[in-house]
Amino acid sequence: MKQFFGALKSLAVVVFALTSSASAQTVAGLRLYEQNCATCHGNPSGPRNSPDGTQLRKLSAEAVYQATNNSANCPKELGPDFDSGSSPILRTPPDGRRILIAGQKSGMVWGHDIDNRGAVVWKAQLVDKRALGMSTSGGAADDQHDYFGLRNGGVASVQLATGEKKWSTPEDDSHSTIQLHGQTAAVTAIPGVVFSGGWDGMLQAYSTDDGRLLWEYDTAREFTAVNAVAAKGGSMGAAGPVVAGGMLFAGSGYVFGAGTPGNVLLVFGVN
Ligand code: HEC
Repeated sequence: MKQFFGALKSLAVVVFALTSSASAQTVAGLRLYEQNCATCHGNPSGPRNSPDGTQLRKLSAEAVYQATNNSANCPKELGPDFDSGSSPILRTPPDGRRILIAGQKSGMVWGHDIDNRGAVVWKAQLVDKRALGMSTSGGAADDQHDYFGLRNGGVASVQLATGEKKWSTPEDDSHSTIQLHGQTAAVTAIPGVVFSGGWDGMLQAYSTDDGRLLWEYDTAREFTAVNAVAAKGGSMGAAGPVVAGGMLFAGSGYVFGAGTPGNVLLVFGVN
């Protein structure tokens, strides 16, 4: 009996020790958060695009570690991320003047006359709020317009010859199951249609005439792959879809910047 109580006492002590150290950890964690993170996260006068504490709590420890380890996410001093992250596009609009179109992460698109020492023919600002990486991985063009996916959501179309905005789709994160949203991947244009993959895994097709949504497919889910490897989709960043041989090829899964990983190459055909 004595022994039993002895065991119970030490068990009780162990349990208590565990709870008290866990709550000490929570307090220490909160203090660290207040000191190092809350100047931006959850602070109304902090950067507008920094997710608040509730949103951060939904992320896995790995995602937080990865994001904070990346100085582009949580910089000591906030500065603009305004470089050009993608290759320019060379096109000849109907007026015959060759135009080089370059998208910038500030959401500005530039049209240069390459036969006139690169003179600026037009520039178009595609977003109102210039946060980080608004136009990241690249646009596409047909012979009349160019098209850019934007990190605040949506796709915008600009006239090649003048830089005039033709249409832009509304910001939309209604179907976002994961933290960030927007169209970070490069877009792909074929006659009549522009394809754009979203951070939330939605692959969408818009009409080049007016930007109306023609088709969409949620790639952020599990798949049975033809090679029998366990497969799932996630965020769509980086490269855009490829259209060849009457089919559309799109990779899904992108972890950079705390995206949702995945490992599928999806191939769509027309019925
Ligand atoms: C100087 C401001 C600032 C500070 C300080 C800061 N962050 Fe951030 N953090 C940001 C901004 C801005 C973003 C969004 C970046 C973007 O959208 O590209 C971000 C993004 C993140 C993300 C990615 C969220 C996602 O949805 O992918 C995580 C996680 C994060 N911060 C955690 C932390 C933690 C933990 C700390 C404290 C140790 C911290 N941050 C400190 C500004 C800050």
